[in-house]
Amino acid sequence: MDKFLIKGGKPLKGKIEISGAKNSALPCLAAALLTPETVILHNVPYVKDLITQRRLLEDLGATALTPELRTHKITAAHIERFEAPYELVKTMRASVLALGPLLARFGQAKVSLPGGCAIGTRPIDLHLKAFEQLGATVSLEAGVVVARAPQGRLVGSDVGFEKVTVTGTENVMMAASLASGRTTIHNAAQEPEIEDLADLLNKMGARIKGAGTATIEIEGVEALGAAEHTIIPDRIETGTFIVAAAITGGELEIKNCNPKHLSAVIEKLRAAGVEIEELNPTTLHVKCRPDGLTAKDVTTEPHPLFPTDMQAQYMALMTQAEGVSTITETIFENRFMHASELIRMGAKIEIAGNTAHVHGKTRLSGAPVLASDLRASASLVLAGLAADGETLIDRVYHIDRGYENIVKKLEKVGADIRRLTGNMALAAEE
Ligand code: UD1
Repeated sequence: MDKFLIKGGKPLKGKIEISGAKNSALPCLAAALLTPETVILHNVPYVKDLITQRRLLEDLGATALTPELRTHKITAAHIERFEAPYELVKTMRASVLALGPLLARFGQAKVSLPGGCAIGTRPIDLHLKAFEQLGATVSLEAGVVVARAPQGRLVGSDVGFEKVTVTGTENVMMAASLASGRTTIHNAAQEPEIEDLADLLNKMGARIKGAGTATIEIEGVEALGAAEHTIIPDRIETGTFIVAAAITGGELEIKNCNPKHLSAVIEKLRAAGVEIEELNPTTLHVKCRPDGLTAKDVTTEPHPLFPTDMQAQYMALMTQAEGVSTITETIFENRFMHASELIRMGAKIEIAGNTAHVHGKTRLSGAPVLASDLRASASLVLAGLAADGETLIDRVYHIDRGYENIVKKLEKVGADIRRLTGNMALAAEE
């Protein structure tokens, strides 16, 4: 299994380019199932989750071409199966995004229940309830959710989510685009990825208004067609590199990003002492004095507030800030697994339920650590960059799910980081 070996203590310096947003590319790829015509997507990040999503589309019968590394041409003209199988759902929960399009276009869809995952139970009950509100029947057959539209087509309706759900909102938006009549989604997720998906769907001929707000209105249409779309920049990758500059006391120019998509993160990091300047609408300049950080509390909330996907990276940063910071995780249970690894590197963190108290500033020292999920692995990379000595991160397949070329990008700005593969990784263990 591949590992990362990091020799810490080097301030990062230089320019870094942000890739396309994984969490936007995933639903946009699924949206290609809504039409027999070709959907072309640019700026799709080259990460494991997107390879998995593409495999799912191909498994269903779609053809996928890659004229360039980050461009995907998907044609779902001959769909032969209507099921997201367990092997794919268990490795990537976003495969549930195939449900809405399949149900809307073919009147039937099946998905294996995702089951437990490293960051909590993560059910899909809200997706299913919403499909029922659109007239679908939903049943569970041997661990597989079977959804059908009795009249062959979904019927527009009022859908109210009890809890804000990102992929749930996306699934309903896609399904309602081909339903008969009007759908209103109440308490919709407001993430930039929702807006990006709505942009693509509208280019395909959908009639969606209000994406990016809590109320989305969708006027169903008979059919959707071809479209070409460029995926927005990854706001979580952007936030991660801002923290990388800050935690190493370095200076980075972060290019091809959209600072508006991470205002809450930028505001919090500025309050903690990170100097962040917007050079132009797509470029940030980040600087931080080695002793310039002070502890600031944070609570994760749905967009536009502080994202749960930046919580682990923020915790790594707070180990280097003066004072005690309280970090409250309200979105996912069991999302503090990085804390025990940070503690092994010398951090002082107390966990009580969904709250973590980080006592800074502590000196971090390199250690062998285990990555437990995507963002937890990012926090360990960040801690490794700041630590004295060598950090060996195991299970980096988690980071490969969502960060494009992270080793190369960090090396280019002066980090001493290497990917160890095969025997090299084994040797490092001995
Ligand atoms: C998406 C993101 C993920 C991010 C998360 C929260 C993608 C591919 N993934 O995940 O990176 O961390 O949003 O911003 O975009 N819930 C239910 N029932 C459901 C659905 C969700 O109880 O049917 C709960 C979840 O357990 C969680 C909360 O709702 O507590 C929010 O989850 P949700 O927004 O659905 O997360 P994802 O869409 O899976």
